[in-house]
Amino acid sequence: MTIYDEKDVPSYVLPELLRLKDGSKVNSRELWMEQRRPELLDLFESQVYGKMPERPDAMWFEVRSEDTEALEGSAIRKEIVVHFTPDPDGPSMDILLYLPKVRSGTAPIFLGLNYFGNQSVHPDPGIAVSNRWMREKDDYGIVENMATEASRGVAASRWPAASIVARGYGLATIYYGDLDPDYDDGFQNGVHPLFYRENQTRPDPDEVGAIGAWAWGLCRAMDYLETDRDVDHNRVAAMGHSRLGKTALWAGACDARFAMSISNGSGCGGAALFRRRYGETVTDINTEFPHWFCGNFRQYNDREHALPVDQHMLLSLLAPRPVYVASAENDLWADPYGEFLSALHASPAYSLLNAGGMDVRDMPAPNEPISSTIGYHIRPGGHDVTDYDWNCFMDFADRHMH
Ligand code: GCU
Repeated sequence: MTIYDEKDVPSYVLPELLRLKDGSKVNSRELWMEQRRPELLDLFESQVYGKMPERPDAMWFEVRSEDTEALEGSAIRKEIVVHFTPDPDGPSMDILLYLPKVRSGTAPIFLGLNYFGNQSVHPDPGIAVSNRWMREKDDYGIVENMATEASRGVAASRWPAASIVARGYGLATIYYGDLDPDYDDGFQNGVHPLFYRENQTRPDPDEVGAIGAWAWGLCRAMDYLETDRDVDHNRVAAMGHSRLGKTALWAGACDARFAMSISNGSGCGGAALFRRRYGETVTDINTEFPHWFCGNFRQYNDREHALPVDQHMLLSLLAPRPVYVASAENDLWADPYGEFLSALHASPAYSLLNAGGMDVRDMPAPNEPISSTIGYHIRPGGHDVTDYDWNCFMDFADRHMH
């Protein structure tokens, strides 16, 4: 039975953030940075998401198109292919990048994966239509698992490119299926085979599933952004919704080059605390999406209490960098209160680093964003990304990335 009532949430004790495995207290920046943080990162890699693979030596970038009159003349649009092997027809991903034309210096960036191809984020006819496998969605113009012309701009309400550019930010996005198509195929497609040893045919129990592969893609996009002279790579925010919000948090935890992470409706395996078992549980997610986490994570089906981590620790891995968690009132499956609580309980790591943290103790009312180093809002409505969410993300970035 799914828990949707606070009175049914089991009592639980969170694993202690500021205590080493050997029991000693973590009371200095050094102990956090040199011991506790690596210990936690290691636990998340081996038990939850899988070990983050390295950057491929032979990776190269190809700028495929550039238009300096995009978005009615307000933006530069670039499309970049990131090739993971020397073979131009080998595995790759396509980055769509919008940059504000009017700006002083390089542009800070929001980077996020999308669900239906780069052409879905804006009706802009200059965006190449993805030719990868996609989840079927007739009303989005995805027919026989392929995007058609009718899919241009279908997800535009979630990607307000013109407003982002008008506020001085760039937007970079990649179709998540470029990295790993989102179904359980035993890890034969997508980038997983790149990570295999000779004769290995599927990931070991502590190697990445789909979320790890998607997060790896964000890190590879960062590799490109570091080379783009129009981009301020010290101000790149990883952003994502839902399964891709889980991904944005994990990417920021693994890769300190991200100046901040923003998760929207990320829920179970994202910002929400596992131990509350409210809405989606570990068993639910491992059953419905057996390919998302690493093999070891299945050990915690119905055994949340046995997890050596909980998600306040995931957020703490971002410290001292800012992190923003967004929930929606009707998105109970994602456990809004559990998302707030893990943001709150990540705070001690931030305090230890003199980086602030969350400056409230109680869950704020809807539409009252908290903009301390750990930021949070809940808005009315359901599981979606809205203009309101984006305005909060940009306000938060204005405050913490400028
Ligand atoms: C499902 C899944 C969630 C996920 C969501 C999404 O609801 O159970 O964990 O966040 O899909 O990605 O939209």
